[in-house]
Amino acid sequence: KKVVLAYSGGLDTSAIIPWLKEQHDCEVVAFVADVGQGAEELEGVEAKAIASGASSCHVVDLKDAFVSEYINPILKTGALYEGTYLLGTAMARPIIAKAQVELALKVGADALAHGCTGKGNDQVRFESTYAALAPELSVIAPWREWTMKSRTDLLNYLASKNIPTTASAEKIYSRDANAWHISHEGGELEDPYCEPSEQVWTWTQSLEQAPNEAQYVSLQFEAGVLTAVDGESMTPYNALNYLNGVAAKHGVGRIDIVENRLVGMKSRGCYETPGGTVINNALRGLETLVLDKAAFKFREQIGLEFSHVLYDGRWFTPVAQAQLAAAESLAQALTGEIVVKLYKGHATVVKRQSPNSLYSEAFSTFEEDEVYNQKHAEGFIRLFSLSSRIAAMHKEQN
Ligand code: ARG
Ligand code: SIN
Repeated sequence: KKVVLAYSGGLDTSAIIPWLKEQHDCEVVAFVADVGQGAEELEGVEAKAIASGASSCHVVDLKDAFVSEYINPILKTGALYEGTYLLGTAMARPIIAKAQVELALKVGADALAHGCTGKGNDQVRFESTYAALAPELSVIAPWREWTMKSRTDLLNYLASKNIPTTASAEKIYSRDANAWHISHEGGELEDPYCEPSEQVWTWTQSLEQAPNEAQYVSLQFEAGVLTAVDGESMTPYNALNYLNGVAAKHGVGRIDIVENRLVGMKSRGCYETPGGTVINNALRGLETLVLDKAAFKFREQIGLEFSHVLYDGRWFTPVAQAQLAAAESLAQALTGEIVVKLYKGHATVVKRQSPNSLYSEAFSTFEEDEVYNQKHAEGFIRLFSLSSRIAAMHKEQN
């Protein structure tokens, strides 16, 4: 029997390897997705997997595909879960699980395994992808099976198997990083009345330490896709990386929220999405120039719907693909340049221009104009409010 495990190099998935071999009597193939989590996590990950007992370890570079095929299309929907969360973990799960399935089919595996707990969203996201792409493979979720309860249990288990680890018992936070964001849960954050200590945040500067001088960045979009920053053409992945750097310096993209998990419970999380916050604000700013009232409202509805579809792990479904297609269609007009001002945690749109702009100074001006006849508004308002007029007349008669 052969199992492909979504492996990160962390303590949980390191313990899963010997546990699978012992409990499920199988060969374990480690799969590592490089979604831009950074060199620190990826360094020596193959050796670590082998030392834990994996028969082989496959690191797959998904960085460019993650940005071009997932992040960029999602950005066009304007999805923001419960009004604030830019969905960084949720958007990486479908591509990770899909690549894991592809490896499993290639090596002729019988089962897929992951290190998600039985209390979270991620188990649903992984397994929904497995179900859509390879329903014939069985699924092993050790956290729902084993009796180990704590990091200490996992460390003791590894020690009993003579497997070396650099992990320690007192790692406080559960973190998940990729090119788009890093999430932090656990530790003191489990008390919603406790302010996160500065050691929670790992990417962004605190507002207190952020520079007193503002910095401006110019973002060029073509049909809803970021193509250049400060006049320089960049690949989507490089542009995101670059903006992560400058925005983090200004403390941009921190949120601290309590959210509704799919499985019913609430959880408290801190998220850092510096570059993503800049790009999202800029694209939303471009929409205000280009989309008319009905198109804008429809985009808002797509964003709301898609935020739940994505959060709930429903990427590989007809409704997700239909919403993405609608957002893609609206985004065709989103070409232009947006200037964003970065200052003390803010990423404010301060300049906008587009060849598709529907904004007309000639019409909108408070000064004298030559194009608009104010008298036309009178008939419009009479018809627009006709039903109210009829209802009011009714009331008078009764
Ligand atoms: N609560 C966030 C979400 O559901 C973040 C999850 C982080 N996952 C993790 N394995 N640490 O998208
Ligand atoms: C986990 O429970 O594995 C992480 C948190 C989540 O999936 O929501």
